[in-house]
Amino acid sequence: MVKKVHVLDHPLIQHKLTIIRDKNTGPKEFRELVDEISTLMAYELTRNLALQVVTIETPIKKMNAKKLSGKKIGIVPIMRAGLGMVNGITRMIPVAKVGHIGLYRDPETLKAIEYYVKLPTDIQGRELIVVDPMLATGGSASAAIQALKDRGAVNIKFLCLIAVQEGIDAIHKDHPEVDIFTASIDQGLNDKSYIIPGFGDAGDRLFGTK
Ligand code: PRP
Ligand code: URA
Repeated sequence: MVKKVHVLDHPLIQHKLTIIRDKNTGPKEFRELVDEISTLMAYELTRNLALQVVTIETPIKKMNAKKLSGKKIGIVPIMRAGLGMVNGITRMIPVAKVGHIGLYRDPETLKAIEYYVKLPTDIQGRELIVVDPMLATGGSASAAIQALKDRGAVNIKFLCLIAVQEGIDAIHKDHPEVDIFTASIDQGLNDKSYIIPGFGDAGDRLFGTK
């Protein structure tokens, strides 16, 4: 199967990504920029949403015009850091429902530990976008996608800010049908499985916990 990775290289996305990579960028600006990048990425990600023709009346005359065909969308942030991307996306897709999956990466084993799942009741019929700023080993993303599939989801995309090849390969090994959208494919992982050059611990930088 062809690997489905889409690098969203819009100049505004790349510019803002550079600012959040900088270690001197504080939590307020970091949060605001993750929010803005998420909006821009949502815009690119939804490029192929289906449209339908409807008849409306402008103040001048009747016309046939295009509207979204009403496909149901769900946003599923992986907590904690994925929460920082939600508002930016729902700004573009206000009717989307939001589910939550709580996972943390055990620092020793690097395995994803699930601690919370709350999803819209109709996920089977929704196009789901799993969001997390970081795709490192891929353990968290793969476990989140599996948690959705176990509950009946069939249409899933994954959106992150930065990824490494190892994480991309892990998702494609476990879930070959899932499209991955990222703003960058970074160099690799360090000995603690942090992304190089990356931007450090996404959750800590978003929430000021370090
Ligand atoms: C981070 C990040 C991803 C995960 C990526 O979360 O937000 O969820 O690590 O690493 P992986 O691809 O190797 O699984 P973390 O476990 O630090 O939890 P947090 O968001 O609560 O800080
Ligand atoms: N989780 C993070 O927050 N940052 C990384 O670089 C890797 C995993």
